[in-house]
Amino acid sequence: MTKNNFTEMLDSSTKTPPSITRWVRNWSLEQSEEVSKLITHTFEVEKGIFPYDCKFKITHRCNADCKMCLHPIKLRTDETLHTQELSDYEIRKIIPELAETGCRSIHFSGGEPLLRKKLEVFIKDAAKNGIRSKLTTNGTLLSEKRANNLAKAKLRSVNISLDGPTSEVHDSMRGVKGFFNKAISGIQAISEARETYGRPHVRINSVVSHENAKTLDQLLELAKELKIDSLHILPVDFSHIDPSLALTDEDYEIVKEVLSNYKHETRLLGDVERLIDLLAAPETREFIKKGEYAFGYYRESPCFAPFVHLFMMPEGKVYTCCIVDRTEANILGNVRKNSIQEIWANDNFKELRKKAVKNTLYSVCHSCDHFLEINQIISEKTGFRTFEWD
Ligand SMILES: C[S@@+](CC[C@H](N)C(=O)[O-])C[C@H]1O[C@@H](n2cnc3c(N)ncnc32)[C@H](O)[C@@H]1O
Ligand code: SF4
Ligand code: SF4
Repeated sequence: MTKNNFTEMLDSSTKTPPSITRWVRNWSLEQSEEVSKLITHTFEVEKGIFPYDCKFKITHRCNADCKMCLHPIKLRTDETLHTQELSDYEIRKIIPELAETGCRSIHFSGGEPLLRKKLEVFIKDAAKNGIRSKLTTNGTLLSEKRANNLAKAKLRSVNISLDGPTSEVHDSMRGVKGFFNKAISGIQAISEARETYGRPHVRINSVVSHENAKTLDQLLELAKELKIDSLHILPVDFSHIDPSLALTDEDYEIVKEVLSNYKHETRLLGDVERLIDLLAAPETREFIKKGEYAFGYYRESPCFAPFVHLFMMPEGKVYTCCIVDRTEANILGNVRKNSIQEIWANDNFKELRKKAVKNTLYSVCHSCDHFLEINQIISEKTGFRTFEWD
């Protein structure tokens, strides 16, 4: 892609850049054709588009001990590793580099990202560099002061994890007494800040598992009372955790019935009908039981993550996404050794893009549901729907 098209695509964004989903949805016919050519040329020039979207785990540390957590306890508790985390200075240096490379959206996560005292400064730096910020947090460190500072720093959206409607359910999932009350205070604090600053969008993330499926209806009532903007139901990913947390057939029936009673709550829950259809169909259930929440999509269709996204770990290692196994072999670069631009253009990334368009990325892709909507839109826009075109 030429410098002109690159700039043109970025300039087509509004002042606050859109989320990656909206960005790809907004591609004009010309832009889609441009991207389409670029993907085809991958075989020759191996260029990506640019990392419009970046997920950044800024710490391994966490103040919780959740039963279902996919961020390994070894990483959360390894103090030697914690001393190797990128410093505030290093993170502040990376943000303009990301912007320069075309990044317009950063998702800050962890561990517990609010354990980094300078998070608000990172978000402010991002905004100054034309990057929108999203945060996922357990909400327990979200004091009134921090909530205000985050909103002032131009945080665009926040996901706060809430896995149950009571202390009994939520604290049991999160492994710490008192976390429910703290998370609720956090939600209230950020919602008040939203009233003052008109941002961020406040969303509850709720991991639904065998342990809490029966309390989903109460959770939805609580969410309505809290006047949050949206609620995202995450069926538990049990691939690396205690399988007894997996949803049973009976749990699915409960979740389905609850959602049927909330069909009108599309503002809160999005496309409820679609969610119900997916949970109800016997063929999709079979996929879900194997942990394949994308129902086999990536067995037949490409994932364009290596063209538009990168994922960074607290010690600076770069991978294509947060799902791939974090083995040495899968590391694409390290921001301590190379600039973002160098990493994005290096042989590891090039190789990965070739694999992406040939559907030989990672075996874990088969059970992944990340970027599903984004990939479906890119496929739609560029015409690369299945691997038959290869
Ligand atoms: C790893 S956490 C990091 C951010 C923060 N510590 C938190 O809990 O919100 C990111 C998100 O993943 C969710 N999550 C954790 N374990 C999960 C699992 N087994 N399946 C699906 N989502 C999970 C969390 O609830 C949270 O919303
Ligand atoms: S709060 Fe988040 S990172 Fe910490 S243990 Fe729970 S899910 Fe994992
Ligand atoms: S399909 Fe999932 S695991 Fe595979 S590259 Fe894409 S986002 Fe990552």
